[in-house]
Amino acid sequence: MKIKLAEFIISNSDVSKCPKDHIPEYAFIGRSNVGKSSLINMLTNRKNLAKTSGKPGKTQLINHFKINNEWFLVDLPGYGYAKVSKSLKNTFQKFITAYFEKRKQLVSAFVLIDIRHEPQKIDLEFMQWLGENQIPFSIIFTKADKLKPGAIQRNVELYLQKLTEDVWEEAPNYFITSSSSGTGKEEVLNYIEQINLS
Ligand code: GTP
Ligand code: MG
Repeated sequence: MKIKLAEFIISNSDVSKCPKDHIPEYAFIGRSNVGKSSLINMLTNRKNLAKTSGKPGKTQLINHFKINNEWFLVDLPGYGYAKVSKSLKNTFQKFITAYFEKRKQLVSAFVLIDIRHEPQKIDLEFMQWLGENQIPFSIIFTKADKLKPGAIQRNVELYLQKLTEDVWEEAPNYFITSSSSGTGKEEVLNYIEQINLS
């Protein structure tokens, strides 16, 4: 799929104030610093469409980006960032939870996982929660440029093994990406296109 137009529409912390358009929507979620905002920039060929930072905790709101006037990409705050205060963490958690529970336009989420890390409880629990709430999702393994191909394969296999041991009968759909090299771009965009056409 070609992205001809990518526009920032609105940021907010209240799901009822998200855009009213009834068009398909895809949301990026995962730990702080995993590369959600960078991936949105990579997919849309834009350097600064979504704000990124080397420090975790950059994205603090629900951000809607309209693509080709036909669908939305949504950048969300990260979870699991120890340095934000407890009350801020609760606020984040509340509006992220409300977003997933209430946003009818959400077609599928992408749960981002840093390919270098072993499975983390917080991610496994979040995916379990999505499953319990019947929210479809795929996994995106990020920062593939940081590992050699053998290590990528090994880590992905370990991750899928852990998921199918603990939580799922079947491993979810997954992608391997790098926002630095563009790895996985076509795969993710084609996947979204297939859903939009179906
Ligand atoms: P929050 O908004 O804080 O939740 O973080 P985020 O998940 O949006 O992460 P962000 O995109 O801001 O990226 C965090 C850091 O990781 C930045 O320094 C990025 O340059 C770096 N980064 C993101 N994706 C990649 C990647 O694919 N490869 C490499 N090498 N670095 C990446
Ligand atoms: Mg971000």
